[in-house]
Amino acid sequence: MRFPPMTLIYARSLNDVIGDGNNLPAWKIAGDLPRFKELTKGALLLMGRKTWDSLPRKLPGRKHMVITRNIDQVEPKGELPDWIVSSPLAACQTLQGVSDKVFIIGGGQIYNVLQHYCTTIEETVVMDNNVAGDVHWRHTARTDIVAESATTALVHGISRNAFFRTHQVRTVWKDI
Ligand SMILES: NC(=O)c1ccc[n+]([C@@H]2O[C@H](COP(=O)([O-])OP(=O)(O)OC[C@H]3O[C@@H](n4cnc5c(N)ncnc54)[C@H](OP(=O)(O)O)[C@@H]3O)[C@@H](O)[C@H]2O)c1
Repeated sequence: MRFPPMTLIYARSLNDVIGDGNNLPAWKIAGDLPRFKELTKGALLLMGRKTWDSLPRKLPGRKHMVITRNIDQVEPKGELPDWIVSSPLAACQTLQGVSDKVFIIGGGQIYNVLQHYCTTIEETVVMDNNVAGDVHWRHTARTDIVAESATTALVHGISRNAFFRTHQVRTVWKDI
């Protein structure tokens, strides 16, 4: 069983913080949200249950698939996700023929399990080594950076450099 081509998208600090109190860290990254919206327009978003919990609502114009071991306990956000699946394998089975534009949007647990099945990683790096948080992650796939651009971020009122990087994954795992 094979996943369709998938892109993992995430933002981290230099000290690898990606989340704090089931929210994003206290940063404001110029251009990050518009970039996320543009990249994921019309896509299927695959996420862990905790990341689903962190969303205020379903994101318009996107399909939502949530991975959880407790299928009956996923909280609706006005409405339920389009799909709720009980494992990465079930996600793969459900994805067959459903969408050719799939984004893995978090969080740390789901990134860990699925990073090597992705063809592309869209990474935002905030150049701050002291961002506070309780979820840490950094991709460990072997990649080539194929695009990079600079931006800025505000972290607790302090301006920091930040970068958007597009990685092509060198070795994509084929079968799950
Ligand atoms: N900086 C970023 O780019 C970014 C992006 C997204 C999220 N985040 C942040 O990341 C944090 C959440 O990440 P997280 O790692 O704590 O949680 P997560 O990956 O979003 O979700 C974890 C949940 O997914 C389910 N799950 C995980 N592995 C599974 C498996 N093999 N089979 C079935 N279900 C599985 C479990 O749900 P059940 O407990 O229901 O069984 C588990 O509790 C939040 O702070 C969020 O704001 C940051």
